Amino acid sequence: MYFRQLLNDETACASYVLGCKTHSAFAVVDPHVDLVDEYVALADAQGAAIVAVLETHVQADHASGLPELVVRTGAKAYLPDGAGVDFDHHALADRELVRLGNTEIEALATPGHALAHHAYLVTDHTRGDEPWFVLTGDALLVGDAGRPDLHAHGEHTVEEMARSLYRSLTERLLTLPDHLVLYPSHYSGSVCGRGLSANPISTIGFERLHNRALQFHSEDAFVDALTHDIPPAPEQQAAIVAANRSGRPVTEIAGM
Ligand SMILES: [Fe+2]
Repeated sequence: MYFRQLLNDETACASYVLGCKTHSAFAVVDPHVDLVDEYVALADAQGAAIVAVLETHVQADHASGLPELVVRTGAKAYLPDGAGVDFDHHALADRELVRLGNTEIEALATPGHALAHHAYLVTDHTRGDEPWFVLTGDALLVGDAGRPDLHAHGEHTVEEMARSLYRSLTERLLTLPDHLVLYPSHYSGSVCGRGLSANPISTIGFERLHNRALQFHSEDAFVDALTHDIPPAPEQQAAIVAANRSGRPVTEIAGM
């Protein structure tokens, strides 16, 4: 399989190009608007087509590159079921598979940072019939969990989101094997977590042992810690979310 992690230090976002060269089927996960040329160039250099663009959730801190990628490549857009976007897409259910030749992506519902949030388990069937790594989005980052407040609204209070995130971590991500490599959507410098590592790669096992958000032994203690001293929300958050829900290509958001 082909796999590349792309970093954007300006917003501390990680995004991914992956897929099967043999069957010319690549996907981009959590594309950043500033890196669209690079995703296309990477796929072109491998002679592979970008056929899928996936979001782990609707982003609140940066403009997504999804609309432009879909226009340029004709790829299908995939978002978690319930993402509430206004453009054509395939709504991925929990445990649904996206097959890219010998590479397989499995959606794992992990709400809490956002109500509609999926992690993506990735299997390379040329290596083995079990997941090799997991793209954790903003649910589990390197050194912390994602913040629970950015997508809270109405009856979905920050506390309820934090409780949901606790269950996503303990009942989903932490049930994965320790050896699974973990690739998050943010790293140090991002507004989406606190005290994140500048190393944008970890494993489930290392985070299980050393991630401070995973050291709480009760849901209440986790929720208490996660809902206090939350850093300020990203500037232009409402405009960014509105742009990302619209599906219109956005190259610039006023004030950013
Ligand atoms: Fe996020």
